[in-house]
Amino acid sequence: MSGKMNLIHVKEEKCTKCGICVNICPSKVLSMEENGPRANTSQTCLACGHCVSICPNAAIDNVKTPLSDQVELTKFPVIDAKTAYHYMRSRRSIRCYKSESVPKSQLLELVDIARFAPTASNKQGISYIIIEDSKILKKATEVVIQWMEENQSHWWSFPKHIQAYRENGIDGIFHSAPHLIVATAPKDFKKGRENTILSFAYLELFANTLGIGSAWAGLFEMCAFSNYPPLLDLFKIPENKLITGAVMVGVPKYSFKRLVDRNPLDVTWLSSDEK
Ligand SMILES: Cc1cc2nc3c(=O)[nH]c(=O)nc-3n(C[C@H](O)[C@H](O)[C@H](O)COP(=O)(O)O)c2cc1C
Repeated sequence: MSGKMNLIHVKEEKCTKCGICVNICPSKVLSMEENGPRANTSQTCLACGHCVSICPNAAIDNVKTPLSDQVELTKFPVIDAKTAYHYMRSRRSIRCYKSESVPKSQLLELVDIARFAPTASNKQGISYIIIEDSKILKKATEVVIQWMEENQSHWWSFPKHIQAYRENGIDGIFHSAPHLIVATAPKDFKKGRENTILSFAYLELFANTLGIGSAWAGLFEMCAFSNYPPLLDLFKIPENKLITGAVMVGVPKYSFKRLVDRNPLDVTWLSSDEK
C-alpha cells in the first residue's frame, strides 16, 4: 500500500484550500492540488500534528496524528504573560520533602505532560520508570554512595555526601524524596539526553500545579551515566536501554515566599543598523 495515498484524508466539502496546512508543514510533505492538500510522501512526515491542529475547518486528518486524538483549543495564549512569568519563576528545586507519598495518578500525570515537550524531529523516544517505593530509593542511595566511594576523584562534593551518609544517614542523593522518575532511551537513540532534559523541564513546571515539588537527581545521574552495574540491576534497565536522566519528586515540606533572581541578563542585539 502506498503511504502517498493514505497519510492524509481531506473532507473536500470543508476544505477551503486556504493552504495553511501546506505552509506550516515542517517537512514539506503537503502540496495544494485542485481538490485540496495532498501528501507527496508519508516517509518524511514527522507526525507533529500541525496540519491537523491548525486547520480552521477541521478538514484534514492525518493517520500519523489523528484529529480524534487532538483537544480543542478555545483560548490562546492559554494564560496571560504576567501569570506565566511568575509561574515559571516560582518553580524551585525542592530538597526538603514530606514523607507522604504522591498518589499514583499524579505521578502518572507528571510523566504524561513530560511527553509533550519538543523533541528533535519529533522523535520523542523517552520512557519513564516511576519509583513508587521509597525502599528502592533507600537502596539506590546506598548504591550511589558505594559508587562515589569507588570513584572519589570524580567530583568535589563526593566526600561530603559520603561522610554525611555514612556518619549520619543523610541522603544527599535524593534528599529523602519519596519518589524518583528515571528517564530511559534506546542505546542507539542519539537525542536521548536532550529530549529528556526538555521533558523534565515540562514535568517540573507542571508539578507545581499539583502541589508536587521536584529536583534533578544529578548525583544519581552521574552514577547512572557511568553504567554502574548495581544501579542498572536495581532499576532493571534493559540491555538495549540507557538511563538519560532522573528527577526526584514529592510533596514539598516548605513553601517559598519570594521569587529568586538570577545572574544579570546577558544579551547581545545584532541588527543591520549596527555601525
Ligand atoms: C542537570 C541538573 C542536575 C542537577 N543536579 C542536582 C542534584 O544532584 N541535587 C540537587 O539538589 N539539585 C540538583 N540540580 C538543581 C540545581 O542545583 C538548581 O536547578 C539550581 O541550583 C537553581 O535552583 P532552582 O532550580 O531552585 O531555581 C540539578 C539541576 C540540573 C539542571
